[in-house]
Amino acid sequence: MDQLGDLKRTIACGQLTEEHVDQTVTVMGWVDRRRDLGSLIFLDLRDREGVVQVVACPEHPQGLQKAKDIRSEHVLAVTGPVVWRDEETVNPEIPTGRLEVRAQEIRLLNRSKTPPFPITGAISASEDTRLEYRFLDLRRQRLQSNIRLRHRVCLEIRKQLDELGFLEIETPFLTKSTPEGARDYLVPSRLHPGHFYALPQSPQIFKQLLMVSGFDRYFQIVRCFRDEDLRADRQPEFTQVDLEISFLQMETVFEIVEALLTRIFKLRDIEVPAPIPRLTYQEAVSRYGTDRPDTRFALELTDVTQSFAETPFEVFREMVQEGGCIKGIRVPAGGGYSRKRLDDLREFVRRLNDKADLSWLKRTSEGLKSSLPKMVPAAELEGVSQTAQLEEGDLFLMVAGTPTVAHPLLAQLRTHVARQEQWIPEDTYNFVWIYDFPLLEWDEQERRYFACHHPFTSPRDEDADLLETDPVRVRSKAYDIVLNGTELGGGSIRIHQQELQERVFSALGIGPDESQAKFGFFLNALRYGAPPHGGIALGLDRLMMLLTGEQSIRDVIAFPKTARAMDLMSQAPSPVDDAQLKEIHLKIKE
Ligand code: AMO
Repeated sequence: MDQLGDLKRTIACGQLTEEHVDQTVTVMGWVDRRRDLGSLIFLDLRDREGVVQVVACPEHPQGLQKAKDIRSEHVLAVTGPVVWRDEETVNPEIPTGRLEVRAQEIRLLNRSKTPPFPITGAISASEDTRLEYRFLDLRRQRLQSNIRLRHRVCLEIRKQLDELGFLEIETPFLTKSTPEGARDYLVPSRLHPGHFYALPQSPQIFKQLLMVSGFDRYFQIVRCFRDEDLRADRQPEFTQVDLEISFLQMETVFEIVEALLTRIFKLRDIEVPAPIPRLTYQEAVSRYGTDRPDTRFALELTDVTQSFAETPFEVFREMVQEGGCIKGIRVPAGGGYSRKRLDDLREFVRRLNDKADLSWLKRTSEGLKSSLPKMVPAAELEGVSQTAQLEEGDLFLMVAGTPTVAHPLLAQLRTHVARQEQWIPEDTYNFVWIYDFPLLEWDEQERRYFACHHPFTSPRDEDADLLETDPVRVRSKAYDIVLNGTELGGGSIRIHQQELQERVFSALGIGPDESQAKFGFFLNALRYGAPPHGGIALGLDRLMMLLTGEQSIRDVIAFPKTARAMDLMSQAPSPVDDAQLKEIHLKIKE
């Protein structure tokens, strides 16, 4: 092995261009590939900027000798002239493909064990192996470019928000529980036996306090911690681009976020529409079945409840009488779906909810055909067909149920059909604002109201009087930004008057004692001249996932956790020894 000594790198492998031909350079990096032709040895040398071919030949015996026992992922420094490649070895696939570096001198700076998977080329290893060897997986070109883009995105965010007068202010990680609706990660206190900090689910309360303090515009690119069930777009620790603004309207937030997204997506030459289309929560749910609609494809929901108001088909009639709905999606040219395909769709719906069912109606050249029982009169089917505007050859897929059952099913069915039909265009970025969310939702199991966003969200001024009389009808000043069916961010105008905050707590079943114990400091701050304020948090990981076209946020986070919240590389979480437990006054029960 050789020492680096005072040998200086003169240029990165991937930065070599035709301008450097005939210059002597020193490049350093990892061996991507090695081909031994006996009298000539070719090495592809890789660094974060790219790959260049190094050739060791008999004219330079030191280089040739050294290249003999070099393997993939060894670390080298190579000095020599940049020359044109022979015509037959030109590689048009890479930017340096017409050049090579003649190895006058090679220094072997370090060896590498054979990696558990090749760094270049198709992924051959399991996700677990890749996560265990994350430091190697991160050498892959795709992950490198994702992480680099993430850096540039953060840079643009900081520049843009600075230009708009925002201050980046850090808020504590060792703090008190904040109510974002997930479970907290707790940290036991050594100095205060039996007491715990909670890692923040978001800096919500602190950023509001910063408004009370008069900072006017705050932002932070901040880690948040939530102990919840994980999915491809959820990690136990994730990053938010968190904003808070004083003296604002909802419009102010929309404008700032639109400018920010425009700047970010420009990095990939993606245009963000200005203004971004808006839908109220009610519109979104009624047209798409969800408050996170993917608007890249149509397949909107049609309500055909009225066609069945007096149907002899009991299941539907009772559903309508009990306040349920019958809604469906028109699949253009879906009339050709086979029995098997329709059965599969039915199975898809039943797997999502075993009490639900899927019915269908087709408009064929011979008239209407349907999976509904024979007793359903032709006039009713005709009514459905007209409401759904079926044309010959179309299919209508229907679900009956309470809106809370039917809507999510149809939303998923809609996406499922669109995927199967390949109706979701790639390289299309459809943003939409959803606003006018309900303030509260009723939880049947716990028999109490929960805040749809969080308890600091303001009701709409004209709805506040319903808080005590008809809480579910209160609309809030909350909004979400959705991109291609993924919730990118959410925020709200907050309550800034302490009396209203107490009323909302009370509607949530949080009495004065509990609110005092949990948020006394915050309620107190509202008594000292809190300005009208509001804000939003964007999920940076989700943003990066959509910007890079990845399927999982794991691919845009340097060191992510598995779906079981484990770090397979460091093996966290892990047991700790008894002495450590004792110090923090904890005992593990068998
Ligand atoms: P909310 O809970 O909607 O709002 O979170 C904001 C955004 O953060 C992202 N996000 C996540 N990303 C990855 N993994 C997770 N587990 C995860 N949870 C949330 C989403 C989401 O839209 N304090 C409020 C914001 C505000 O009102 O200003 C809040 O945290 O992209």
